[in-house]
Amino acid sequence: MTQDTDSLVNPDWWRNAVVYQVYPRSFSDLSGDGVGDLAGVIDKLGYLELLGVDAIWLSPIMRSPMADHGYDVSDPRDIDPLFGDLATFDQLIAEAHDRDIRVTMDLVPNHTSNQHAWFAAALAAGPGSPQRDRYIFRPGRGEHGEVPPNNWTSVFGGPAWSRIREADGSLGEWYLHLFAPAQPDLNWENPEVMADLEETMRFWLDRGIDGFRIDVAHGMAKAPGLPDLAAPAVILKHTDDDPRFNNDAVHDIHRRIRAVMDRYPGTANVGEVWVESPDEFAKYVRPDELHLGFNFALATAGFDVAAIRAAIDESLAAAGGVGAVPTWTLSNHDVVREVTRYRPEVTADAPLDEQENALGIGIARARAMALVELALPGTVFIYNGAELGLPNVDLPDEALVDPVWERSGHTERGRDGCRVPLPWEGDEAPYGFSANPHTWLPMPDDWGRFTVERQLEDVFSTLSLYRQAIELRYVRPEFSGPGVDWYQAPDGCLAFRRPGGLICALNTTNSPVPLPHGQILLVSLPLVDGMLAPNSAAWLV
Ligand code: NOJ
Repeated sequence: MTQDTDSLVNPDWWRNAVVYQVYPRSFSDLSGDGVGDLAGVIDKLGYLELLGVDAIWLSPIMRSPMADHGYDVSDPRDIDPLFGDLATFDQLIAEAHDRDIRVTMDLVPNHTSNQHAWFAAALAAGPGSPQRDRYIFRPGRGEHGEVPPNNWTSVFGGPAWSRIREADGSLGEWYLHLFAPAQPDLNWENPEVMADLEETMRFWLDRGIDGFRIDVAHGMAKAPGLPDLAAPAVILKHTDDDPRFNNDAVHDIHRRIRAVMDRYPGTANVGEVWVESPDEFAKYVRPDELHLGFNFALATAGFDVAAIRAAIDESLAAAGGVGAVPTWTLSNHDVVREVTRYRPEVTADAPLDEQENALGIGIARARAMALVELALPGTVFIYNGAELGLPNVDLPDEALVDPVWERSGHTERGRDGCRVPLPWEGDEAPYGFSANPHTWLPMPDDWGRFTVERQLEDVFSTLSLYRQAIELRYVRPEFSGPGVDWYQAPDGCLAFRRPGGLICALNTTNSPVPLPHGQILLVSLPLVDGMLAPNSAAWLV
């Protein structure tokens, strides 16, 4: 890192950062069990330094039976042996900090694992007990309590309630799980729940971490009285007025969380805030709540200039309205990778050259959008593998392990396709990810072309583009200032200017278009006759 603002002494680092999401299962496996681990992350810190990121976000690494791949936490104050141990985690923090890379980690406050000691105690203690009150247990409706307490469905499909057997073997109460049955929702009206989260936060902050990514930050508080859903909910989706999410009381929880963070200067939280309305989103990033909120506007916009421009304008307005820092992301471990989202539709049985052509367009568009997001003011989150231009993988049914696949009765394939391990080197799976050919998700046969090794040698690779873009974003003064001014641009194109002077132009059409005036800093594809190539973007000053 080259500027003072990038050194670890800057408490405001999160205001203008590039954060890299490590999905630990899929990043790098040093133990050889086919699943990535913390030693693997330590091993690749040099790569992350080369890429130039300010911080990493580690998806959950706490003790977990892995029913939802770590988002079901059985002990929030320990590392799962699959990933390593506390000593390895301490080493990771120290070595990352030595390289000026901050470490943030997932925190999962909405639910625990059903293997958490609290849940076992709740089952044992019986209805009406203080142990049960830490979760959301209710008697069933119907003559024999056989009907769930309300009509809520789980985000992963199926009912959001499961019925338990009481200690005497009889069918008993129901408990709420907005996700898998192995993820019982906590009762955030019980003060013990907040006290325990505070203890968990201090546990990790005292070890030197730099912040948290808060899972389901729009969850936790449920609508008073648990009213029925007005209409059936779609799997993996919800609206802002859904009684399961985005209830007012959640903001008090965020204020308590923020109060803990404020005792650790230089730390910051980013919340997973899946709400649709920019105004609702803004509430979560008021000055005494989350430092940052994930903004999924670009991840849902498609490769369409009107939608991209609206996403940028609305996000800037929402964050600006409450003095918050805008954030940008194109993908994460829950969504289809951008290369595949932007790729023209092509059937699996189409001729190979058609498929290759579509993939090429998907990669070109993803590269262009990388320049768009890295040109914007605020903080950018990059999902591991995006910098390699990885597509989603069409996995065979028998390889699918996301609980969504089972819960949806095999109607939704779930999120495994974006979680396939990263290819590092060589021409054969597992491409240096692991010494074990049996990786937790199988890796495609044709990923030799995407390896880090291959892309580091190629100045035109997607990895080289990301490296150059991130470096320019740091060193060039033109990337300064809030907001953007829009330029007139030909149909299917957009162009904006940062106050510091950076111009970003995007061409989503199939023809070359003239560039705005200026000196070129970076292009996502070579110019065509001096013009901006189809499906490409350029930075100018
Ligand atoms: C959001 C996480 O990103 C996702 O992977 C997980 O399944 C749910 N929250 C439940 O924790």
